[in-house]
This record gives sequence, C-alpha cells and structure tokens, in this order.
Amino acid sequence: METDRRYPKTAVICNRKSGLEDAESAADSEAEFDSPETIEAITDVLRRHGVPAVILEADENLAENLKEKEIRFAFNLAEGKHGRDREAHVPGLLGLLNIPYMGSDAAVMGVTLDKELCKRLAGSCGIRVPKGIVVSPDDDLSARAEELTYPVILKPNAEGSGRGIFDRSIAKDAHEFTELLTACFREYRGKMLAEEYLPGREFTVGLLGNGPDIRVFRPMEICYHEPTEEDFYVYSYRIKKDFRKYVHYECPARISAEAEREMTDAARTLFTVLGCRDVSRIDFRMNGAGEPCFLELNPLPGLAPDYSDYPMAAESEGYSYDDIVFAVYLHALKRTEEKEA
Ligand SMILES: Nc1ncnc2c1ncn2[C@@H]1O[C@H](COP(=O)(O)OP(=O)(O)OP(=O)(O)O)[C@@H](O)[C@H]1O
Ligand SMILES: [Mg+2]
Repeated sequence: METDRRYPKTAVICNRKSGLEDAESAADSEAEFDSPETIEAITDVLRRHGVPAVILEADENLAENLKEKEIRFAFNLAEGKHGRDREAHVPGLLGLLNIPYMGSDAAVMGVTLDKELCKRLAGSCGIRVPKGIVVSPDDDLSARAEELTYPVILKPNAEGSGRGIFDRSIAKDAHEFTELLTACFREYRGKMLAEEYLPGREFTVGLLGNGPDIRVFRPMEICYHEPTEEDFYVYSYRIKKDFRKYVHYECPARISAEAEREMTDAARTLFTVLGCRDVSRIDFRMNGAGEPCFLELNPLPGLAPDYSDYPMAAESEGYSYDDIVFAVYLHALKRTEEKEA
C-alpha cells in the first residue's frame, strides 16, 4: 500500500492478548487487552488510507522502539499491565518523549480507571450516579454490609472490560455481601466498589472528536435475552465474550427524548469536564424510576470490528468500521496539529 506523505509515521501501541483463552484465569487477566485481529484491523484501516503505520507492543522496550522506528504519532490502544495507573503509562511516556498521540492523556486515564473517583466527579457535575461504597480488604465487612440497600453489585474499583465481574456479583443481603466480598478479596487485593443494583435498562453512549467538533452518538441499548444471574442482568466478561447468545443491541435505543437528552448531555459534560480527547464511551443504566444513572467512562473503548460496542454505535451514526477508525485518527491528528501551529 502506498503511503501518503501528509501523514506522520504512526505506531499503533497495544497490549496484545496472548491467546491463552482456554485458561479461564488467563482470559480474565487479559480481558482488557486487544486481540491480534483487532490490532491488525485497526492498522489495516490506517494503512489503507496511506498512513505509514507499524504495531508496537506496550512493554518495557517501548521507549527504545519508538525512537528506533522514528515514530512521530501514536494510536494508543494500550490498557497497561500493572497498577491503578496502568492506563496512564503509555500516555505518560508519549508525553515525556513529546510524541503526539490519539486518545486521552494520563490524567484522564488515572481518574476514569478509578470508578468511584469518576463517579464523584460525575456527581459534582449534577449527573445522577448509583449509591455506592468502596470496600477495602481490611474493612469490617459485616459493619459495611449495613450501609447499602440490597440488592448490591460488587465490582473491582479499578478494572475494565467486565474484568473481575464474575457470574456471582450480586449480593441480595448482608450475609451474601460478606460472603462474596471475602471470596473477591482472595482473588483481587484491590478495593471493591459495592453499588446498589440498578434494575433498569442499560445503554452506552459513544463520543468522537474535540471542542466544538465533539459528536455525541445516540444511545445504544444493550438488550438482554434472559437474566444472566438469577433474576439479574449483568453485562459481565462472560456475557461480553459470548454476546450473541445473551444480548442484542438497539441503536438508536427506543427511549423518550428526555432520557436520550439526559444521557447525551451527561456524556458531553463529563467528556468536557474531564478533558477527554478524540474518543470515549460512557455507560449508563436506569434506576427503578427509569432515570438514567452514570456507571463509568471508558476513554479507551474497545474497537474490535465484530463485537465492540463503540463501532456498533458508530455504525448507526453512518460510520463503517473503516470510517470510524479513520475518523478517530483524523480528529486526533487535527487536534495535535492545531496545538503545534
Ligand atoms: N450499579 C449497577 N447496577 C446494575 N448493574 C450494574 C451496576 N454497575 C455495573 N453493572 C453491570 O455490570 C456491568 C459492568 O460494569 P461496569 O461498566 O462498571 O464495568 P466494566 O467492567 O468496567 O465494563 P466495561 O467493559 O464497559 O469496561 C455493567 O455493564 C452492568 O451490566
Ligand atoms: Mg462498562
């Protein structure tokens, strides 16, 4: 494929799944990583448009490889490997090396990976959030169990892609709360977020662009075919991996104009207040009164061509897979070039 001299030499930076999908624990620990097919699909789109693109693994040799390959721009997909700040590692390194890149900066990555912190920020913007508490392994679990109204969903406070949300993530009473959390803390030493379970419909809203150019997609509904856990509906890693069996998607979602406006306004506000860039996806779920509540903001939404939510939502906005990946790239390039000008 011919490269177009207008485009800088670009690295697609990723954490590649090892492919050990049969081992349940390996699959879960790599839940956030991208498959080789997704990485190839994104790189192919860039190359088809004439971008000189190479793939680089986000490992300890990244800084050296970026210099050696004379990279001038990066398309960051890396979710990072270690610690609560892992999604901030690659943006931080690119900042240090002064290489412009697609996607949000380290500050956004740090805040959004901490669900509770991000919810506090959303709450301070007047966005409705579910009531929840953060629980540490050292807490007195039976005392903490009294703080919420049941049922309660338990999820790691700093994970994504449904990672750590297992089949049994709902506690129906205080006894189950202590039982499930004790089991969780055996696996995850990090803090857990316990939230009152929102029984309503579930949506996700995609965003594209920057400043006056931000485009907020219409909400996409995740429609469950049957309960995923007793009488409950949870979009867990197991469901996401086998989504055709459990869910289908309605885009645009069939909801009132008011609910749609509430979600798209909340998405735009949070994206702007946090200083997100180029691309993001925000998840919502309705409470018992049918009011949308914010769940989380994903500044690195999955871009798998055949199953990720973001490209699906983009499709109903008129973007093919090729269009949306390249649009994200062009928005990022425009933003960084304007900054340099
Ligand atoms: N308070 C809640 N009430 C009801 N269901 C919830 C609640 N919080 C989370 N869930 C369910 O669990 C799923 C995963 O939660 P969340 O989006 O917070 O985690 P995630 O693993 O980071 O997801 P992602 O794959 O989008 O990164 C949600 O899509 C939803 O189905
Ligand atoms: Mg989510």
